[in-house]
Amino acid sequence: MDCALLLLSLWALAGSASLQTAGLCPERLLGQERRRTCPRTCTLDQDCGSKRQCLCDGQCGLSCVAPGRTCPWPLPVAENADLRLLSPTHSFSALLEVRCKPGFTLSSGLDAVIRRCQGDRQWSGDEPTCTEAQTAELEPEETLSCPLPQDVTDMFNIQGNASVGTWIHYSCQSGADLVGSSENFCQENQTWQYPHPICKKVFCQPPRDVEFGYVVAVQRTEYEVGFDVHFLCKKNFLLDGPQKVTCLSNGSWSKASPHCRTRCLIPAERSRVEIGGVKRWPFDVTDAMVPHGENVTFFCKHPNKMCSYTAAQTCFDGLLHPPACYLEPTWLQYKLFPHRLVSEIEACEPEEMD
Ligand SMILES: *[C@@H]1O[C@H](CO)[C@@H](O)[C@H](O)[C@H]1NC(C)=O
Ligand SMILES: *[C@@H]1O[C@H](CO)[C@@H](O)[C@H](O)[C@H]1NC(C)=O
Repeated sequence: MDCALLLLSLWALAGSASLQTAGLCPERLLGQERRRTCPRTCTLDQDCGSKRQCLCDGQCGLSCVAPGRTCPWPLPVAENADLRLLSPTHSFSALLEVRCKPGFTLSSGLDAVIRRCQGDRQWSGDEPTCTEAQTAELEPEETLSCPLPQDVTDMFNIQGNASVGTWIHYSCQSGADLVGSSENFCQENQTWQYPHPICKKVFCQPPRDVEFGYVVAVQRTEYEVGFDVHFLCKKNFLLDGPQKVTCLSNGSWSKASPHCRTRCLIPAERSRVEIGGVKRWPFDVTDAMVPHGENVTFFCKHPNKMCSYTAAQTCFDGLLHPPACYLEPTWLQYKLFPHRLVSEIEACEPEEMD
């Protein structure tokens, strides 16, 4: 662009000998000249006397000039501009480039101007001044931004304004995982440095199966965040753990799946035992079984005295062992001396137990 402007301005100077010889020298434009007066106008060299020639002098048109006369050179160092002579000499018709330093421009908005050495020994045009480039002119560039399509703004909460030279930060709307780079840079050419990330919806994997139980939910390969799964145990099994779990936003279930615990057979036949504070014969208990977690209190005989003491055991998932001190009475003991069974004799006094 600079180059084209330079050519244009060269053309506009219209001061070259070739233009003159081609008869293209402009008519003198009176009133257009600024701080100088035009030399005498002419049509032929003969009009100008022996020391001068009839040459094209820019806006002055054909004028009587002394071709050997020179314009001031070197010029004092210009503020904010570089001066460069484009011609081998600084005499009539020589060209001088005035180029503003980076960040400075002429009042015309251009950053360079060509001046021509005129017949009055002055460089053409006004004294150029380079001033600091207006920030207003840079502003449109600063507001350039990178595109953010609707499907991207719908999917993410975006921090930052997507303008050229800045970073933005993405975060997925609730419950979704971000896959890819969570930050992006808007490049000079208004494109993003990285592809936009994607939001992957979070799911929970099916909860662990519960042996002897049921998962009360539509069977799925994955469950959405917030989905509840309920559990039930088969008959005679006791639920150990949560009755319900919820799919959390991080893809985990709120609790581990429960267990369905089985009942225990009471390991005594010919003694009463205490279950839930009630002393009972095992055969009077349904199926002679207690549920998981139930405490069963057994009666043991004092090693030396004719009194009993108790020892409790807990049913755990089908396992209930009698305490070491418990002795199962024989069938004869049970049949012939039922009142002398350990579970039926007096309890030892606390002081007897020392
Ligand atoms: C999911 O979140 C819960 C509760 O905030 C936490 O206890 C659990 O450890 C998390 N699970 C994973 C895999 O991060
Ligand atoms: C069984 O005994 C333990 C310990 O004494 C107690 O924590 C638990 O609650 C009891 N279980 C029942 C079902 O009473």
